Amino acid sequence: MTEALEGGGADGGPAWWQRGVIYQVYPRSFQDTDGDGVGDLAGIVQRLDHLHWLGVDAVWISPFYPSPMDDFGYDVTNHRAVDRVYGSMVDFDRIVEQAHARGIRVIVDYIPNHTSHRHPWFSEARASRHNRRRDWYVWRDPAPGGGPPNNWLSAFGGSAWELDPPTGQYYLHTFLREQPDLNWRNPAVEQEMLDVLRFWLDRGADGVRVDAIQVVLKDEHFRDNPPNPDYGEGVDDPYDALLREHSADRPEVHALIERMRHVVESYGERVLIGEIYNEVERMMAYYGRDGRGVHFPYNFQLIKLPWDARTLDAAVRRYEELLPPGAWPNWVLGNHDRHRIASRVGAAQARVAAMLLFTLRGTPTLYYGDEIGMHDVPVPPDRVQDPWEKNLPGRGLGRDPERTPMQWTAEPGAGFTSGEPWLPLADDFRAVNVAAQRVDPGSMLTLHRALLDLRRREPALAVGQWAPVDAAGDVLAYLRSHGGARFLVALNLGGDPASLAFDGAGEVVLSTIPETEGGQVEGTIDLRGDEGVIIRIA
Ligand code: GLC
Repeated sequence: MTEALEGGGADGGPAWWQRGVIYQVYPRSFQDTDGDGVGDLAGIVQRLDHLHWLGVDAVWISPFYPSPMDDFGYDVTNHRAVDRVYGSMVDFDRIVEQAHARGIRVIVDYIPNHTSHRHPWFSEARASRHNRRRDWYVWRDPAPGGGPPNNWLSAFGGSAWELDPPTGQYYLHTFLREQPDLNWRNPAVEQEMLDVLRFWLDRGADGVRVDAIQVVLKDEHFRDNPPNPDYGEGVDDPYDALLREHSADRPEVHALIERMRHVVESYGERVLIGEIYNEVERMMAYYGRDGRGVHFPYNFQLIKLPWDARTLDAAVRRYEELLPPGAWPNWVLGNHDRHRIASRVGAAQARVAAMLLFTLRGTPTLYYGDEIGMHDVPVPPDRVQDPWEKNLPGRGLGRDPERTPMQWTAEPGAGFTSGEPWLPLADDFRAVNVAAQRVDPGSMLTLHRALLDLRRREPALAVGQWAPVDAAGDVLAYLRSHGGARFLVALNLGGDPASLAFDGAGEVVLSTIPETEGGQVEGTIDLRGDEGVIIRIA
């Protein structure tokens, strides 16, 4: 059994980011208001009523800063402005004002590790070895016999080093060659980038999601990374050929994160979330010494693990066990970098997955479109946008399929745009859209709204204790409780009927199969295939 709650709020109770549900908006694909086929900030303002109606507590907006879009905004040329394709700072201010008016918090993306190669800092840095900004990036001489300074690999394929012929040195890029890494060992870089953080907090952001936080500091000696003994040539992502011992997850990074936390905390109840793809044991270190790290490192286990009840049961138990004292958990089913849950597990299980996401202990993050069950959209080769797919085609790494336009209505353009959408619409958008699902009591959207509503009304589900329940086969079960209220969540992760012995009685308050709602259970819980239920224990 876990602690009732680890109050992070100003009054010692749970903070908004503990009680609440976060919704991720990928701004290119959410709502276009000017007909260019690309979503914009005015579109987010327009759709705040949807988010409010759905019942989310915060919106995290992926990057909207000026960018040549080599990595669709994760390559920034100005950290303190809005790209024209998305609108202007006036639109951002309206998001904050209008979201806050609806009780919705705003989280922005913060990208500390790298800039665009077109950032003015990098133009200066590459101008000469003696430029005052040279040391704002990571430069090294070629290896003694020529070639890259070490064996580090780029996340998007090939070496992490790019030769800059005019100055004869290599610069480091953990991601694209168009995304040179900043040198955070230079105090001027840290000072400037912490000021960027202050800039958005001053502007009204309620928190930040920190991009690629574990790679911000690298080994100061630039030692080669060791080979990964488990790597399967031709099978695995080539980035995994080496263990990233010296290029990521360095112990030094934690002191830096403490300084980020200090900035965020000086603004009161704001949140610092870290993007960390790593073993769950390693992830825990990011809560920091005495809880002075990120408020939570994103927990991607539900994205990475096989969809199997025993595997997930073990993973949830282990995660709960590993959490340091006072650390707040969180769960994620999808984001702009990973294939959609509906495609990974199928439409019926996606409903079960939603029930899991909103009933586990910790903050859930919902990816736009998952509330209507959007699936990955196949993108023909001539419409590929994602640089990862362009660099390593045909391996299923590309991220366009999970970034396609939000499906609002059955109209041409799906209510997303009056123009030609930047990525193709799903071919089923006329049936699968917000307008149709709002009025359908059996829809994915109705299920999401009911889950969020129940979570809001029942502190047991939002911030209560969690305890595992022993189950077998395809059934995953656990208890949530708070005060006198107790809920049993029983999820059938398989397509065949299954049952769970249950020493008590209760009422099914919510089911992924609506006609079973309201039923009384005693002794045994019988689940249909693909059914998940929330039972209020009498
Ligand atoms: C993060 C982002 C991803 C981006 C990368 C480089 O992993 O989520 O979309 O490509 O960082 O910034």
